Amino acid sequence: MKMIPYSTQDINEADIRAVAAVLRSGWLTQGPALERFEKAIAKKVGAKFAASFNSGTAALHAAYFAAGVGKGDEVIVPALTFAATANAALYLGAKPVFADSDMHTGTMSVSDARRKITKRTKAIVPVDYAGCPAALSEFHTLAKKRRLVFIEDAAQALGATYRGRPVGTQADMTMFSFHPVKSITTGEGGVIVTDNEDYARAMRLFRSHGISKDATTFARKNHGAWYQEMQALGFNYRMPEMSAALGESQLKRLDTFITKRRAAAKRYDRLFKNVPGLILPPPERIHEKSAWHLYPVRLAPRIAHKRDEVFAKLREAGIGVQVHHVPVHLHVFYEKLGYKKGLCPNAEAFVASEISIPLFPNITLKQQQFIANTLKRILAPT
Ligand SMILES: Cc1ncc(COP(=O)(O)O)c(C=O)c1O
Repeated sequence: MKMIPYSTQDINEADIRAVAAVLRSGWLTQGPALERFEKAIAKKVGAKFAASFNSGTAALHAAYFAAGVGKGDEVIVPALTFAATANAALYLGAKPVFADSDMHTGTMSVSDARRKITKRTKAIVPVDYAGCPAALSEFHTLAKKRRLVFIEDAAQALGATYRGRPVGTQADMTMFSFHPVKSITTGEGGVIVTDNEDYARAMRLFRSHGISKDATTFARKNHGAWYQEMQALGFNYRMPEMSAALGESQLKRLDTFITKRRAAAKRYDRLFKNVPGLILPPPERIHEKSAWHLYPVRLAPRIAHKRDEVFAKLREAGIGVQVHHVPVHLHVFYEKLGYKKGLCPNAEAFVASEISIPLFPNITLKQQQFIANTLKRILAPT
């Protein structure tokens, strides 16, 4: 039996034609497709600028760089996220400081984040866990008051809305990932959207070795037309044209993808209604719509110790479940840095009881019924 994946991309003939057209055009990197894709994604979320990268992780690295994060600084990130949110602080010699989770949504707790601010804190980075927007308005106010750069890790949340507006303009910089399981894909890729031109300029420099070709920015004058100036230590984080063309084509279907994800999530809500011991993701509020990246269910505290057993039985039944995520401070690497269990008890308890069941735009009713029936059978008292 073929495993039902926890997520998968939706590629159609138009996507394939768009990529093939780039391959035939002879222009494989830093060309017109990239420019079009960046314009389209900025427009879609209502931001002024978009800087694309060859991964969401590279995008976060660039955003932290643009924010001025460096040695001795602290960056507040949730414990409940993918490691990249914290790793990007380490890349720049800064220290990730982990804040605990809101048990309802799984997003970063505003009060715990507030408590963790020190005079070394440079940036605060809430994550839209499972596609559900974090408390963006509260984080915005907090960041303004404490003069922090507000970076939103919306890797999982392209297509979500917050207080009626697309996620993408609430923070100083917002990251979307285009990994295949995300709202849209470019194979690998990511973007930062921002209204701040200085940040956009710094990120573009950073993604291309820190080398500028724009003579108006040069410190050294009187050079030949061949001259390029390295002004910072950057990387090669550029997105290829094939990816940008795929992203541009996929973006046209973003609304359809999210509508289908939402419909599938609502179907799970109905299928799992009143199952004893099962905690469902919180219902959407009117003005805050999730991108439904994941459908994370949790086992009630009295049966949470059975999570691994339930997980194994679902996998045995051909259901590609996952757990999101290993709390970052509990990764072996982070434990070696001195972070300890107990640092973020809510995040630890949340993850210890969590299972992400399959959710993707083209999941069928039959697959969902099979998943629901299997999980209900596993949870039924014997
Ligand atoms: C919350 C979060 N942050 C960062 C990333 C990193 O993005 P990417 O895989 O595009 O590098 C991901 C995705 O894997 C993620 O889910």
